Amino acid sequence: MVGLQWGDEGKGKVVDYLAGSFDAVARYNGGSNAGHTVVIGQRKHTFHLIPSGALKGKELLVGAGVALDPVILADELALLPDETRRRLVVDGRCSLVSPSDKELDAALEELRGTSAIGTTRRGIGPSYAMRALRLAPRVSDLVAGFDFDPLNRFYKKLDVDPSGLIAWAEESRKLLGGLVGDVAGRVVDIAEKGGSVLFEGSQGSLLDLLHGSYPYVTSTHTTAAYIPAALGISPGLAGKPLGITKCYTTRVGGGAFPTEEKGPLAEQIRSIGNEYGATTGRPRRVGWLDLVALRYSVGINGAKEVAVSKLDVLSRVKEFKVCIAYKHQGSEVSDFQAALGHLGEVEPVYETPFSLHGANFGSGLPPEGKKFVDYLEEKLGVNVALVSHGEERTSTIEL
Ligand code: IMP
Ligand code: MG
Repeated sequence: MVGLQWGDEGKGKVVDYLAGSFDAVARYNGGSNAGHTVVIGQRKHTFHLIPSGALKGKELLVGAGVALDPVILADELALLPDETRRRLVVDGRCSLVSPSDKELDAALEELRGTSAIGTTRRGIGPSYAMRALRLAPRVSDLVAGFDFDPLNRFYKKLDVDPSGLIAWAEESRKLLGGLVGDVAGRVVDIAEKGGSVLFEGSQGSLLDLLHGSYPYVTSTHTTAAYIPAALGISPGLAGKPLGITKCYTTRVGGGAFPTEEKGPLAEQIRSIGNEYGATTGRPRRVGWLDLVALRYSVGINGAKEVAVSKLDVLSRVKEFKVCIAYKHQGSEVSDFQAALGHLGEVEPVYETPFSLHGANFGSGLPPEGKKFVDYLEEKLGVNVALVSHGEERTSTIEL
């Protein structure tokens, strides 16, 4: 399951919905910057690190590509039934996120001033950077013992206080007790026994470190191709990607957003769609569906199957439009890759082929919904496999 936009496409809800037909759910990228929301009846669960299959009783795997914050993992586990812990395996090769990484994340954002990325300040960028510098402890290093001296010296050079690291490491070692294992090995075992694993992506393709709207991106890879690399399994085991998009677009943090809408209409969509960050509570920026960006995401993921979410939100909004191309210096651009260098300067070209206003999902896919599905299938060359029209598991239509 991969997000085709800038995150918050509804992955959590759909992963929970689909998890019933899998043996395990695995996270493979990102960290506690993710906020995956699952609503069951009156209860809302937000998962930052625990895979969204938690409420379906599935085996829960956290793969090597995840930046692991043991304190947040423990806080999250504490909110779930005790037996959840027995179903959870954290790969020993995961990088850790330390309190110093969070301090550095905040300090870097301050330094950037008006060009701040708008990170979640969860220490994700610094944790992955430390891994690339070969200074970060892995989960298995906490168990085996780790020489913190080089890391301490490095942090001191950056004017970050590392004095709490030893106590944090000791506490984290206890919190992770009994959870550490070989996630890659588990995935292979499950596959060899004829079972299946749902790979739950975090963030969205346009936040990918290499292929997204750099530098306004996250610090890991978010496309389907990263699944095998991040978990440590063969590409052949990764299966087929299911992309997910909202019927409009949102973005949290800085960076260009060609179809962004501002003013009362944006406020209306934000309020109906409850578009506030699940991790930071920030209001999400909202805008229209962007087919230029989506075609690109579908392409880089090789997504033939797509889920669309939040159709209920636009059923309550009179306006509806879709961006079909960009205008840049007088000429039309329909290639997102070509526009990436000047995404802040393009003007969207819109069309309103139909509207979702008034669509009623009470008894299956209404005519407005069908038009939208047909339109997306034609414009993106994909099969729309699932429509989500509300937070509840029951507000889901499989096609
Ligand atoms: P970081 O991942 O905290 O470093 O933040 C980098 C950028 O990615 C910021 O614009 C964040 O708002 C965005 N971001 C990170 N995680 C998520 C997510 O789960 N949903 C939406 N945006 C995210
Ligand atoms: Mg989210």
